[in-house]
Parts: sequence; structure tokens; C-alpha cells
Amino acid sequence: MKIAFACDHAGFILKQSIIDHLKERGCEVTDFGCYTPERVDYPILGEKAARAVSRGECDLGILVCGTGIGISLAANRVRGIRAAACAEPYAADMARRHNNLNVLAIGARVVGEGTAISIVDAFLDAEFEGGRHAKRLAMLDEIQP
Ligand code: RB5
Repeated sequence: MKIAFACDHAGFILKQSIIDHLKERGCEVTDFGCYTPERVDYPILGEKAARAVSRGECDLGILVCGTGIGISLAANRVRGIRAAACAEPYAADMARRHNNLNVLAIGARVVGEGTAISIVDAFLDAEFEGGRHAKRLAMLDEIQP
């Protein structure tokens, strides 16, 4: 599985452990940055990773900022992206199964490393259930800005 990864400076602290874990799971990771702990703007990073998912170059995206919120908002501006910040594994599991989430966001100032890894695993281990949930996602696509 190909994963697009991006974080801002607040997410930099979790970056390496998440990428290492993804590689241990056998994932191919495309790292869109940031590459140093210098202050950066999360919309730039969130968009880069989301575009790779939207274009089909990556299967799923994983983003990290301070709360997971700003970077998920950026990703959601990209066509075909369903991104959300998850602070525990249950939400990440259900977000795949019911919402077909294709970009997971994590808040490095919200959860510790162990919980972050459990959230990643819940996200990657779950599968979209389709059926009535697919109908609801189609309804979401019909909502115009
Ligand atoms: C950076 O200070 C912080 O605002 C950012 O990482 C994120 O939490 C925004 O939603």
C-alpha cells in the first residue's frame, strides 16, 4: 500500500515513528515533508499529500499537525478527499468503515506516540463497508459549496 505522508513543524515530533511504523507494516511511504522542525504552514503540506491521493499516486494519506485539524481542513479542499482528525483508534476504524476516509490526520499535541500508532493501525486495518454508507458519501458529494 502506498501512503502519502505530510506534517507541519508541530507534527515533526511524531513523523519518524509513524513513518518507521508504516514501513514495518510493508507500506511504501511518499514523504511530502516537512523535513526539519522549522515553522511551516500546514495548508501547504496538507495539500501536497492530499493531491497525491486525489491523483491516485498514493492509496491513502496520513497527516500530522498540532491538533490534526488545520492539516485535515487543507486536505479536504482537494477533490475526492475525505479527511478527518482522529484522536483515538475507534474513530479511525469507523471513519474507514463508514466514511471511507482516505486521509487520516493526527494531532501531535493531542495524542502520544503509542496512541498515534494505534490510530494509524486502526485506519489501515479497516475496510470500507459500502452499502448504505456509499449512498451517504454520494449525498456528501452532492453538497455544493
Ligand atoms: C501550529 O502551531 C498549529 O497551529 C498547527 O500545527 C495545527 O495545530 C493547526 O491546526
